[in-house]
Amino acid sequence: MAFNYWPFINKNKTTVEKDHQITVIPDHVAIIMDGNGRWAKQRGLPRIAGHKQGMDNVKHIVEVANTYDIKVLTLYAFSTENWKRPEQEVNFLMKLPQEFLSVYLPDLIKENVKIEMIGDIERLPKSTQKAINNAIEKTEHNTGLILNIAMNYGSRLEMVDVVKSIAEDVRSNKLTPDQIDEQTINQRLYTSHLPEPDLLIRTSGEIRLSNFLLWQLAYTEFWFTDAYWPAFSEHEFKQALLAYQQRKRRYGGLE
Ligand code: FPP
Repeated sequence: MAFNYWPFINKNKTTVEKDHQITVIPDHVAIIMDGNGRWAKQRGLPRIAGHKQGMDNVKHIVEVANTYDIKVLTLYAFSTENWKRPEQEVNFLMKLPQEFLSVYLPDLIKENVKIEMIGDIERLPKSTQKAINNAIEKTEHNTGLILNIAMNYGSRLEMVDVVKSIAEDVRSNKLTPDQIDEQTINQRLYTSHLPEPDLLIRTSGEIRLSNFLLWQLAYTEFWFTDAYWPAFSEHEFKQALLAYQQRKRRYGGLE
């Protein structure tokens, strides 16, 4: 089976119309984009066809998020555990950011999107790192939606990095153990400069966090859908936003 799906890129820009029923907008939406493989299987296609369609859907959902003036969209694109997949699939997933950016970066720049990345980028192929760094640089002054892609990201790895950084500061007498509080940890997270997610969406009917933003999601509202990621549409996104605005967020306090 040839693994070349790139000729089938469909670069249709969608028109997103704001639904005025939606009045409470989360600043930060995080999404676990699950179900690419099952979406492909349902259609008798190889798994990578699902990933490719998932990639195109990222652009569509960015347009929807931008229309609603969401400030940050964090997307889980590859976890530290996804290396366990077959080599061919991993190789394909590794190429996705590069392919995504080669197709969509000019539009993202025009749409004022700022691209950021969390995760251990060092383990990605050099060409992928280059494409990502170039996109980060080209969009660093953009002031619209922050598209934060989690690539080779794992929350436990992030915690280990936080603990190492604190241990270093204690060893060099910059910090005493008594001074360690939540802020000490917040400041060292990969997401230290971002607000915590207000809304977490997971597609494909799975109800778990899969090592995603475990610290940051402490008070996030969760919304799950059976839709597979490539089929997660503007309609679905709107359902999530409508559900979010019904939630009473108490952060452990009383209304
Ligand atoms: C999980 O579905 C999905 C992934 C591991 C990859 C997600 C990546 C994308 C949606 C595209 C990324 C785009 C950019 C811009 C980097 P799965 O493969 O586990 O699906 P399954 O559970 O149905 O098998």
